[in-house]
Formats: sequence, C-alpha cells, structure tokens
Amino acid sequence: MQLNHARILLTGASGGLGEALAGQLSAAGAALLLTGRNADKLAAIALAAGAVCGRLPSDLATAEGIADAAAAARRFGANMLINNAGVGGFGLLESQDSAAVERILTTNLLVPVRLTHALLPWLKQQPAAAVVNIGSAFGSIPFAGFAAYSSAKAGLRGFSQALRRELADSSVRVIHIAPRAIDTPLNTEAVKRLNAALKNASDSPATVAAWIVEKLRNDVAESHLGFPERLFAWINGVAPSLIDRGLGEKLATIKHHAINQ
Ligand SMILES: NC(=O)c1ccc[n+]([C@@H]2O[C@H](COP(=O)([O-])OP(=O)(O)OC[C@H]3O[C@@H](n4cnc5c(N)ncnc54)[C@H](OP(=O)(O)O)[C@@H]3O)[C@@H](O)[C@H]2O)c1
Repeated sequence: MQLNHARILLTGASGGLGEALAGQLSAAGAALLLTGRNADKLAAIALAAGAVCGRLPSDLATAEGIADAAAAARRFGANMLINNAGVGGFGLLESQDSAAVERILTTNLLVPVRLTHALLPWLKQQPAAAVVNIGSAFGSIPFAGFAAYSSAKAGLRGFSQALRRELADSSVRVIHIAPRAIDTPLNTEAVKRLNAALKNASDSPATVAAWIVEKLRNDVAESHLGFPERLFAWINGVAPSLIDRGLGEKLATIKHHAINQ
C-alpha cells in the first residue's frame, strides 16, 4: 500500500516500537491515529510525529476501549490498522499467577482479534485497506520461559494467516510481521540478562520500524525480521524436535534467569 495514502490506527503508539513507527510512518506521508494508555506520552509522540496526527488514550483490554478505538478509527477514515500493542511475559508458567497469564493472552492475542473484528466491516468498504499484526519470533519459535507469550503470538500468526485467506477476495490485505528482540521497555532487566547470556540479538526500535515500513511499502504479507531467527522459525515448522533439542541445552540458563528476576 502507498503509505502517503494510508490513514493508520496504530495501537501501542506510546511504547518503544510504537514511537519509532509513528515517526517513520509520518515521515513516509501516512496520517496517524495513535492509541495507548499513557496520555502524556501519546501527546508528546503525536506532537513529534507532526502532520496529520490524532490520538486516543484507551485501554484496549476493555470492551469500551475497543469500541472507542474502532469508532475513532471510523471517524478518522482509517484504511489501515496496525495491531502493535503488547505486553511481555517472561517467567516459568507455574510461577505466573492466572491474572498475569490472562493479561498476556488478552493483550497480545484477544485485543488484536477484537479490534480487527470491530473494524473489519469498515475496512472492507475502503478501496484498499490493511490489517497489520506485529507478532514475534516466539510465535514461530515457541520459547521456554515464555509459554503464555509464545502461545499468544503463535495464535496471532494463525489468526493473520486464516484471515488473510478469508479476505483474499476483498480489498483488505492482512500482514503479519514477526520481529526478534527489540530494545524497548517490554523487556525486563531479566530478559535483557537472558538475551545477553544466550547471545540473542536485540534490535533498536528505529531499525525494526524501518524494516516494517519497508515491508508495508512492498506489500510483504509474512515476514520474520532477523537472521538466524528466520532460519530457526523455518526449522521449527519442519522439524520441531531440533528446536526442542537446541532449547533443551539452554534450559538451565533460561530457568536461572526466570527464577532470579
Ligand atoms: N520488545 C521486544 O523484544 C519485542 C520483540 C518482538 C515483538 N515485539 C512486539 O512489538 C510490539 C510493541 O512492543 P514494544 O516492544 O514497543 O513494547 P512496549 O515499549 O512495552 O510498548 C507496548 C505498548 O503497548 C501498549 N499497551 C499495552 N497494554 C495495553 C492495553 N491494555 N491497552 C492499550 N495499550 C496497551 C502500551 O501502552 P502504555 O505504555 O501507554 O500503557 C505501549 O504503547 C508488541 O506487540 C510486542 O509483542 C516486541
């Protein structure tokens, strides 16, 4: 899609990747409606992004937040929804309380499904429209220590693929982009220590935002950002036991960092 014709509802705009995306999408000529919960941060990011930029503080984990965001997107004339809001979730499943598990699944999976569902009738009326889901490498390489997060992101990948196939005869494109680790507040100090111990690369939000903008410009439906993560995602699809074995060797390290946080 030509980004200078895009009118985008961007969720998670007050976060690390969201802020970088807001700046780069605005520079590419897109009009933006930014959402997040932190109203002050949203205001500052909207000001910096400039041009045609609206903002709507809302908690998307609530039914009211979804309805407000969808109504605002219709008023804004949105033709693209970028589901970027998310929460992290490092920890052994047995140590996470059920409220935390629920929050991880809701924010990372149910929120994008609900928002897409609410906005789809509107998007289908647009001559060209897109739903863009920001997933994670862990959606294709489900990782020990991230069981709920990985299942939410794997669910988001499945949702994206099923909906893309369902909308193949419509004007709505469905795009799924899976970054590897990014240097943002989503990652706790324990996650940073784990990534350093495992030598997992972590990209800057500006780099990831630039990759995403390039994928949107070129209409790439499905992408994993970063190597060797792209290769591991493929291996996990064809021979998951190889990844079981590889992660098995790292399990003691993962458990150490999960427990000591
Ligand atoms: N960081 C990574 O290593 C990494 C790697 C792969 C994929 N990702 C994905 O990239 C996306 C962006 O994450 P990030 O790294 O930029 O994280 P971040 O800096 O923590 O930002 C998360 C954003 O989501 C918003 N959010 C969370 N819960 C919300 C809710 N209930 N209602 C509305 N907004 C909510 C936050 O809003 P407030 O701050 O205003 O509350 C914030 O704007 C996420 O989908 C994440 O899963 C991240």
